[in-house]
Amino acid sequence: MAVATVAALLAALGGALWLAARRFVGPTVKRLHRGGDSGLMHGKTVLITGANSGLGRATAAELLRLGARVIMGCRDRTRAEEAAIQLRREICQAGGPELGPDSSGAGELVVKELDLASLRSVRSFCQEVLQQLLNSFAKEEPRLDVLINNAGIFQCPYMKTEDGFEMQFGVNHLGHFLLTNLLLGLLKSSAPSRIVVVTSKLYKYGDINFEDLNSEQNYNKSFCYSRSKLANILFTRELARRLEGTNVTVNVLHPGMVRTNLGRHIHIPLLVKPLFNLVTWAFFKTPLEGAQTSIYLASSPEVEGVSGKYFGDCKEEELLPKAMDESVAGKLWDVSEVMVGILK
Ligand SMILES: NC(=O)c1ccc[n+]([C@@H]2O[C@H](COP(=O)([O-])OP(=O)(O)OC[C@H]3O[C@@H](n4cnc5c(N)ncnc54)[C@H](OP(=O)(O)O)[C@@H]3O)[C@@H](O)[C@H]2O)c1
Ligand SMILES: *[C@@H]1O[C@H](CO)[C@@H](O)[C@H](O)[C@H]1NC(C)=O
Ligand SMILES: *[C@@H]1O[C@H](CO)[C@@H](O)[C@H](O)[C@H]1NC(C)=O
Repeated sequence: MAVATVAALLAALGGALWLAARRFVGPTVKRLHRGGDSGLMHGKTVLITGANSGLGRATAAELLRLGARVIMGCRDRTRAEEAAIQLRREICQAGGPELGPDSSGAGELVVKELDLASLRSVRSFCQEVLQQLLNSFAKEEPRLDVLINNAGIFQCPYMKTEDGFEMQFGVNHLGHFLLTNLLLGLLKSSAPSRIVVVTSKLYKYGDINFEDLNSEQNYNKSFCYSRSKLANILFTRELARRLEGTNVTVNVLHPGMVRTNLGRHIHIPLLVKPLFNLVTWAFFKTPLEGAQTSIYLASSPEVEGVSGKYFGDCKEEELLPKAMDESVAGKLWDVSEVMVGILK
């Protein structure tokens, strides 16, 4: 009996140590720009969707630290303002004399409302951004150096966007499709400029079923998330093709598994929660670790001129053939133009 208890205790202890070891000495992602490079993004304007939470927030924090002026495109103004206040505070605390929103080191944050589940909101957001850029640098031409399509919704119950699109396809793909198209002129006139798209490895389980893009016949929330993330990749590749010779690049990345608010629609039983938390703590990346590839693609001189590629952990990765199918990518582009109403 005593032996069994001791054995169980030892096993539990061993397990905990192993998890802790995974966390602290496991293969962690190297943080780019640690310490140095503080002026790398100085004078650059970056727009990030979903910048109030998770990966978007961590990406905003780092680019801000590198001197960028960051426009946060967020669905909820209150949550976004709170995040902005915290980010400014963190920058002030972290920074020495050369960092701080009022000195030349760190950049500047601007919050703007953007609901990707509403085409009307996407359109008025773009108008406001253009207006803001015109007003704030009256003497200079307005510029947008980097657009980061980061916002996302994961495995929600069946819902439709304001315009009647299945929610995950509508927000993750169509909202960003319209946003990017409306900002393309500005990105081109700001060249060299970059577009960064956040997808997921789960794209592997998706397909673009053109006959039921709004999932009216049958809704499978995992399939729809995967489909939207496959659409992100096909969109990137088609856009890269269309942007050849413009000095505007577009690349797509998967962040790995990251501890964020993305799982808000997944219900985990109360009893399993502590175990789940332990496992995510041990195996998932922190938002700052997860954001490294977004930060890399947005800022590194190494990827200057690189376009249409798929990245993970700051390295190029292979795609499945279905994500490289040019005819599906072309057809998705055409169908998306019709759906968001920008057909010329
Ligand atoms: N976490 C992971 O393990 C993981 C893995 C693979 C890929 N990703 C991708 O990473 C990206 C960022 O997700 P995250 O993990 O950082 O999750 P998160 O913490 O939930 O952040 C998602 C962001 O998207 C915003 N958003 C959701 N719906 C929106 C809408 N209709 N309009 C505008 N913004 C909207 C959210 O705003 P609110 O806060 O207002 O809801 C939030 O700011 C997503 O594209 C996701 O697919 C994440
Ligand atoms: C839902 O889609 C996922 C991913 O495509 C698939 O693995 C799963 O079997 C589907 N579930 C149902 C009930 O069809
Ligand atoms: C792209 O950049 C190259 C190198 O800086 C430059 O020579 C070329 O004119 C640029 N092309 C356009 C379309 O801006």
